Amino acid sequence: MSHAVAPLINLFTVGMTFSSIYFREHPRVIEAADEFVRRLRLALGNEGQEELFLGVVRGRIVADGETLVGPSLIARRYVDCVEHLQCGGMLFHRELLPGELIDLFAVCSDLHSKVRDRRYAADLLQAQGVRHIRLSPCYGEPGWQGQDVELDEEPSTVNDLETMIQFYQSLQATVEDSHERAMRGQDVNMNTARTVVESMVTSIESDYQDLLNLSRYPDYDNYTIGHSVRVSLFAMLVGQKIGLSPIELVEIGTAGLLHDIGKSKIPQEILFKTARLDKDELYVMRKHPHYGGEILLETEDSSPTSIGAAFGHHLRQDGKGYPKIPKWAPISAVTSLIQVCDVFEALTAVRPYKPSLTPAQSYHIMMKDSGAFDRTMLFSLVKVLGLYPPGSRVKLSTGEEGVVCSTGLRLDRPLVRITQSNEGVAFARNDQPLLDLGFCSPGEVHVTELSLDGENRMTVGSDEASGDMRGARVDLSSLQIQPCR
Ligand SMILES: [Fe+2]
Ligand SMILES: [Fe+2]
Repeated sequence: MSHAVAPLINLFTVGMTFSSIYFREHPRVIEAADEFVRRLRLALGNEGQEELFLGVVRGRIVADGETLVGPSLIARRYVDCVEHLQCGGMLFHRELLPGELIDLFAVCSDLHSKVRDRRYAADLLQAQGVRHIRLSPCYGEPGWQGQDVELDEEPSTVNDLETMIQFYQSLQATVEDSHERAMRGQDVNMNTARTVVESMVTSIESDYQDLLNLSRYPDYDNYTIGHSVRVSLFAMLVGQKIGLSPIELVEIGTAGLLHDIGKSKIPQEILFKTARLDKDELYVMRKHPHYGGEILLETEDSSPTSIGAAFGHHLRQDGKGYPKIPKWAPISAVTSLIQVCDVFEALTAVRPYKPSLTPAQSYHIMMKDSGAFDRTMLFSLVKVLGLYPPGSRVKLSTGEEGVVCSTGLRLDRPLVRITQSNEGVAFARNDQPLLDLGFCSPGEVHVTELSLDGENRMTVGSDEASGDMRGARVDLSSLQIQPCR
């Protein structure tokens, strides 16, 4: 059942977002509600189960007694609704109608209205004619509709998994809110964006690799949002490794989060088109940097760094790219860094119209395109993320499987936490051994499969596994890095 939860949370988010931006009959709202109901019935199956419970415990989604990391990352709107309704989650009945869900969106969109308690919220829903959604008491209260939850079941690889999920949710929320406000013609709240990044920069003691582990969960529908968060994290990670100050990191992180803000002005049918864009659509889509620059120029407290990145992240170093700028106009280092991270993220992500490429294939393409990128920034990204970026799932030639914890001294030899033995036995979280491939020869063990999002697996070629990067003619020895901590 838990695999059905993420798409449901995602559809809830999409429906809520569009019903608050537009109106209840907007096609995207109706589409999301219809699909939610269809998937709900599919998840409930034919075995007599009448209701699906989506609970919230300490800001995380729980289902079947499990806390689910992936759905929690995209669940901020659902969590907000549950908190607004003073409950611990909702039970969705198989007879639920799309119109009832849309009514629920309307009730929850008004987050400023005071809901006294759960009973009041239930009456509110009844009054709206919502009969197939029930509210559960909170976790720990009598009548909680879920199973017991083991909250400490996932000791973190990070400072604290719960904190990391909260950080991720706030980054995601910042991008969502900014795009929504820009779409409505309202001012982007620059200070909120900066505060979120600032609290992350000052709170995270180790590095952003921890957040990258989370950011690799599949994106479902919101690929502008997840993309912006990842671009921001990549840029901060590179910035941190090249020794930038916390203040500079905050500016870079904020610029990364808002670099595609201009997409808020692009018509939805182009933005969410699942096929490749035709010439005319591409023309419209390519206006987004211009719109982005304009939006941030008009925003109070925005910085030249963010304005520059929103306007210039599709400019190339050789003067090509878009929008057109005079030859003498310089491109800032931050914009160049965001551009590199933007292209790398796009190449390595799955989109409805394209599969993902491995990092090695992506670096190969980027390095061959000699006029496009600032070489220092590109090489810094390669050094920091390596061939197997932190958070990637890998299968080894020994048959074991694991998660990359950090890039090794050599790009092709990461530090891996083994999660599953070569006989397919999963290790308990506390018993997962660390294997530093830097201490093994490629003949002994190398990576054979890579998954960047935990779902789509890619076979790693033998040349790639040995660091040859598919003929990219990159001298790996020149890219070897020293420990940066
Ligand atoms: Fe863009
Ligand atoms: Fe982008």
